[in-house]
Amino acid sequence: MSEMLEVRGLSKKFGNVVTAENVTFDVREGTALGIVGPNGAGKSTLLSLITGVLPSDSGTITFDGQNITSLSAASRTKAGIARSFQIPRPFVDMSVFENVYVGATFGGGFHGQVGYEAAVRALETTGLMHLSEKPAGQLRLLDRKRLELARALATNPRLILLDEIAGGLTEKELPPLIELIRGLRDSGVTVVWIEHIVHALTAVVDELMCLAIGRVLAIGDPQEVMRSPEVIEVYLGSTFDLGEAS
Ligand SMILES: Nc1ncnc2c1ncn2[C@@H]1O[C@H](COP(=O)(O)OP(=O)(O)O)[C@@H](O)[C@H]1O
Ligand SMILES: [Mg+2]
Repeated sequence: MSEMLEVRGLSKKFGNVVTAENVTFDVREGTALGIVGPNGAGKSTLLSLITGVLPSDSGTITFDGQNITSLSAASRTKAGIARSFQIPRPFVDMSVFENVYVGATFGGGFHGQVGYEAAVRALETTGLMHLSEKPAGQLRLLDRKRLELARALATNPRLILLDEIAGGLTEKELPPLIELIRGLRDSGVTVVWIEHIVHALTAVVDELMCLAIGRVLAIGDPQEVMRSPEVIEVYLGSTFDLGEAS
């Protein structure tokens, strides 16, 4: 299996604030990489650098063998990279279907029947079909998370980047979301998933990466990363959720 994403020496500062410093990692096609790290580590910024919403100061990003470092965000979406946001911002007055259709047309560039079919597929995958007529603003939190995922999936991504999609869910709500993300990975979509709830991550991911102050502290086998002294030190006294999967 080949690498779907290759990040090499990626750096980014906002003034004096370091958000990425020589970040280097790979994600193999069809696998899932989890990302943990304290607040302010640069996790969300890393996703913005990969999607091209923010320019990096230096470094290269290769997607499925193509150097995309200087491609626009729109071109990267068309190439097959999608992202969910830490704070979902659906169009609250539009229906669930319309929200997903917007993802398919403006994000994916799929119009007419093709866009319609992409939206329906994303709704089916995320289990939202029965809510398709409902205004997005009326959804409960778990369904808002599903909608965020569906909007990203409607672009037909080969790489999906998830930013704390499980944040705020109850322990009971977690398993369906975990299953959904595992299902995506198992269907061949490459996944990069930022999450504070470590047991949700380790239930799915093949590798785990820990970031702190824009640097990669550790990457590799999830259990080994969680046991590494650098990672333990960073998390001392923090709200790291190591609970068991239910
Ligand atoms: N657009 C921006 N302009 C200036 N500083 C930013 C911007 N985005 C993020 N930052 C800063 O970069 C650091 C990393 O932020 P972020 O990537 O959101 O971290 P994380 O997702 O790991 O919590 C923080 O100190 C944050 O305040
Ligand atoms: Mg963040």
